Amino acid sequence: SSSDDEGEEYLFKIVIIGDSAVGKSNLLSRYARNEFNMHSKATIGVEFQTQSLEIDGKEVKAQIWDTAGQERFRAVTSAYYRGAFVALVVYDISRRSTFDSIPRWLDELKTHSDTTVGRMLVGNKCDLENIRDVSVEEGKSLAEEEGLFFMETSALDSTNVKKAFEIVIREIY
Ligand code: GTP
Ligand code: MG
Repeated sequence: SSSDDEGEEYLFKIVIIGDSAVGKSNLLSRYARNEFNMHSKATIGVEFQTQSLEIDGKEVKAQIWDTAGQERFRAVTSAYYRGAFVALVVYDISRRSTFDSIPRWLDELKTHSDTTVGRMLVGNKCDLENIRDVSVEEGKSLAEEEGLFFMETSALDSTNVKKAFEIVIREIY
């Protein structure tokens, strides 16, 4: 039963943050259920999902927290950041304003950084190459400056989605 899972040795937390509509919920649904929704609604508050996976022959359970990017829907409490966790900090490569917000998201993370064990900068929607607004190099260099992993992903065509999650998950060890 689900209550038995609470004592799970390898349960840990992943938080996904970033501006509204960068694709946080679709990254989670692509990773957890291999689903994509072209018309997904803005997340209200916090949603989470527990995902089992196997790493180095061990069963690992990740609790993945997906938050609202829109200020008016954010209800972030300290509980959200409690416990050891890794973070995906997401922007949309076709919307520069979402990349410009990254320092603010990193500040929020730093406020709670005592328990952050790994962070990845994610440039999502890399399928939108024809309307790209942020270069790969810009993403890479920001990540280097801040000491984050970096990856471009597409929740739409699945590029690097599994990889992005698994790299941060491995940081837990
Ligand atoms: P909030 O919940 O408001 O914070 O937004 P969000 O970051 O969860 O965004 P969401 O996953 O709801 O996606 C917003 C829109 O972008 C939806 O129309 C998605 O279909 C679209 N989208 C998400 N990921 C991708 C992607 O990789 N490529 C493309 N082309 N569209 C995407
Ligand atoms: Mg969402």
